Formats: sequence, C-alpha cells, structure tokens
Amino acid sequence: MDSIVTHGGRMVDYEVIARKSRDDITDYSANINPYAPPASVTTAILQNIYKINDYPDPVSRRLRQIFSERYGVSKDCVFAANGASEVIDLFLRVLRPKRVVLLEPSFSEYAHAAKRNLIPIKKITMASDFCLPIYSIKDTLRKGDLLVINTPHNPSGRFYSRSELEVIYELILQCGAYAMIDEAFIDFVDGGEEHSSLPLVHSHIVVVRSLTKMYGIAGLRLGFGVADQKIVDHIVQMRDGWSVNLLAEEAGIAALQDHSFAMKTREWLREERNDCMKQLEKIHGVIVYPSSANFLLVDGSFGGLHVAKWQEKLTKIGFFVRDCASYGTFTPSVFRMAILHHHKNAILIDELASELSS
Ligand SMILES: Cc1ncc(COP(=O)(O)O)c(C=O)c1O
Repeated sequence: MDSIVTHGGRMVDYEVIARKSRDDITDYSANINPYAPPASVTTAILQNIYKINDYPDPVSRRLRQIFSERYGVSKDCVFAANGASEVIDLFLRVLRPKRVVLLEPSFSEYAHAAKRNLIPIKKITMASDFCLPIYSIKDTLRKGDLLVINTPHNPSGRFYSRSELEVIYELILQCGAYAMIDEAFIDFVDGGEEHSSLPLVHSHIVVVRSLTKMYGIAGLRLGFGVADQKIVDHIVQMRDGWSVNLLAEEAGIAALQDHSFAMKTREWLREERNDCMKQLEKIHGVIVYPSSANFLLVDGSFGGLHVAKWQEKLTKIGFFVRDCASYGTFTPSVFRMAILHHHKNAILIDELASELSS
C-alpha cells in the first residue's frame, strides 16, 4: 500500500530512498522546530507513560482549560484533535459548506479533506507576491462557501494579520459564507499572537491551531479548533472521542504552560532566518520570498535549477527539501526549506550554490 500524501515530512520514504537510517537524514521538507521537543514536553510524556493503560479523556478537559487560559478563549469554544489535519477534516464535516474555496498554492490537506467529504473545490490562484487576492475572493465567494486562509501561508511564509483579514471577514459576513483560518505556524511569527484571528471567532469564522511544529510532536499529533460553541458541540457529538491520546494531552498541557520555549525559538529563528535569506540571496539566479515563518520558499528559475534533479544529489547526503512542483502553481525550480540548525543550513545553501554554478 503506497502513501497518497504529497506533502513533506515523509521520513519512512526518505529512509528507503536514501538507504540511510533516520539519524542520518535531515528533513528540510517538514517545518519542525529543530530545538523541539522541549524538556517540559518530553518530561510530561515520560512521567505519564505509566498511564497508557487508561483511556484518554474524550473531551480533553484539562488540555482545553489550559488552552483557554493561555489564549483567552472560552474552553467551550475549543476542541482538541489528532493534529490540525483532523481539525480541518472535522470543520468540513460539520460545517458542510457548498464549496471549499482555496487560495493556491495551499496545503494539500485542505483539498484532501474536501474530497473525502465530497465537497466541491473552487481554486483561486494567488499572484507571485502572495498578497490576498481580495477582488477575486469577492467575485468568487457565494453563500454557503468556506474560504480557507492560511496565515502564515504555507508555502510562502507570508503572514496576514487580523487587520489585513478584516476586509475578508466583512465579505464573508455580507455573503453568508464561512472562513477557516489556519494558524498552524503562527507560534513562529514575531508578535503573531497579537494579530491572531482568535478574538474574531464566531458562527462563520473558525480557527485551526497546531502544536506539532513548534513543540516537535508531529508523530504524537495535537491540534485545536476554535469556533462558536454550537459548532464545537456538534463536533464533539459526531467525532471519535478517543482521537487525542493520553500522552498527546499531557504533552499539550506541558507545552502550553511552557511560555519561554516558544519565545526563545522565535528569537533564534529571527536571526537564523535572516542569515539564511542573506546567504541565499548571494547566490546568482536565486529568489527568496520574505517569510514570517520557520521556512523559506526559494525560486531557482533564473539559475536554471531543477529541484527534482538536485534532490537526487541531496539524497546522497541524506537531505530532503520540499519540491514545490506538486502544488501545481510553481515551475520545477521552486522548493521550500525549513529553517534548521545553522551548520546544516550552511551545508544546504552551499549545495545549492554549487548546483547552480555547475
Ligand atoms: C498549513 C498547515 N496546516 C496544518 C498542517 C497540519 O498540521 P498537524 O501536524 O497539526 O496536523 C500543516 C502541516 O504541515 C500545514 O502545513
């Protein structure tokens, strides 16, 4: 049975392709904080491992309480899930929009979730600066549609603040549509929380959050949905009650109480991202998109880069970048790289420079 996923982070495939063990692979294709998981999270997992013969709390009460205290939202308006991907699926299942409107390029799980739920998809292609295509959105949106906005946007890293999104929210309300705001990477944005759409949540605006990237628990899985209480109640009624496992709940409680880890990560990231951008911009024929997130979108078209061919060379050293060809909106010269440890980033950027000079 082959995997159908088109996103990054396919570690098991990478082990097979590179014929290397996990420790000899550097995954630039998933955007996981290289300093994660923090000790607070691993300690919570180890201290609670003896509890795994108990069933988890089906409504994650302690976890939702901590989330609500940290972000100032009512705990009745929050549900936890097995990663943001499950949150996305549950919102589509319950809101049952007439169409899902996607701003392309976009995270592939939006389209997968729409297809699984038999909901038609309408795509709007973004311009190359990844600004919000307000006029196209206005022309496209109809009553009952669900518009997906991802901020910071994967794969460009562009951040749309709450004030920037307000025009869209007005459109949503005027035409009786819905907005699903995916803030999976917002923890990496400097001052991001102040610009989150959480305070605007109501019957037509829902927010998706993830802990998997900042806290390095992609394999454990944990995400949150924030919505009007009626929507949350409906989700709780129809979902699998045990999809958030006991260790994920404990890890989430520890992560959400560990304020300094995310702050320190943002401090490190600001420097490292600037450094990577500077080094990449020095390479002739490379364009790097400004990013507020923990990844960079890089276009090597002018230098004649062919990402799939370059990846064959990277595979030999166990490095995997995210070839953006599968998004359907890019040339074969575009890739996305996570920001990882400095010495690894330097190797990747050197590899790119030598690929383009050969
Ligand atoms: C934009 C976006 N949203 C959601 C997710 C899913 O996150 P999770 O691991 O919490 O399911 C991803 C994963 O890469 C993503 O890129």
